[in-house]
Amino acid sequence: MRRTLIAGNWKMNTDHATAVALAEGVAKGAGDVENADLLVCPPFIYLESVNKALANSPVALGAQNMYAQPNGAFTGEVSASMLTDVGAEYVILGHSERRNILGETDAVVNEKTIAALEAGLVPIVCVGELLEQREAGKTAEVIEEQFKGSLAGLSAEQVAKLVIAYEPVWAIGTGKVATPEQAEEVHAGLRKLLADSYNGEIADTVRILYGGSVKPSNAAELMGQPNVDGALVGGASLKAEDFLGIALAL
Ligand code: G3P
Repeated sequence: MRRTLIAGNWKMNTDHATAVALAEGVAKGAGDVENADLLVCPPFIYLESVNKALANSPVALGAQNMYAQPNGAFTGEVSASMLTDVGAEYVILGHSERRNILGETDAVVNEKTIAALEAGLVPIVCVGELLEQREAGKTAEVIEEQFKGSLAGLSAEQVAKLVIAYEPVWAIGTGKVATPEQAEEVHAGLRKLLADSYNGEIADTVRILYGGSVKPSNAAELMGQPNVDGALVGGASLKAEDFLGIALAL
């Protein structure tokens, strides 16, 4: 059975003091959460301090991005081994903000996914359609292209280790959450892509998270869908009470 994962993507928010306080708040309440694994993904620069704040708690640590090369002359970049070095276990890859604002292609996401797996990180590979793509009836096509491009060349064994996140771009930070039916339709499609591209066991194993305006009041219904295995939470992950509220609503 797939265990629910509630992951907080803090994006480019918090400062040192608020990052530590938020992590402490999540760590403090995590003991009450029975039905989900918890993960927080702070900005790179606060990873180490957040890791200390999470010590002795069940909350896992992740990063929001990385560079595919292991080291060298790549000014401003951070490698997978640097992330594991400061305690990260997960890394979000191919978030729509990186795809659409910073120009990341499926090929780039693919290189990063391979490098993350090689370093022992769990990649959370994000896919999602723009509003105009949904309105043009192209959602399934876009998702399939991103899925195949981002996971190209990976073995079934490697795919079994990762997490997929479906984040419809029109639902991110807009308060316009996908309906449980809209989310389930895409998640079921992704599950079928996993079964067709790899095998049924992989399809049953891989967790597929939904992201886009998740909050405590809509979490139970979304997570109640058969193929929705958790959430990637932006805005509501910036308050420990709201983030924990999502996990406690399940
Ligand atoms: O990665 C999470 C995210 O993009 C969703 O953001 O603020 O709509 O929960 P938000």
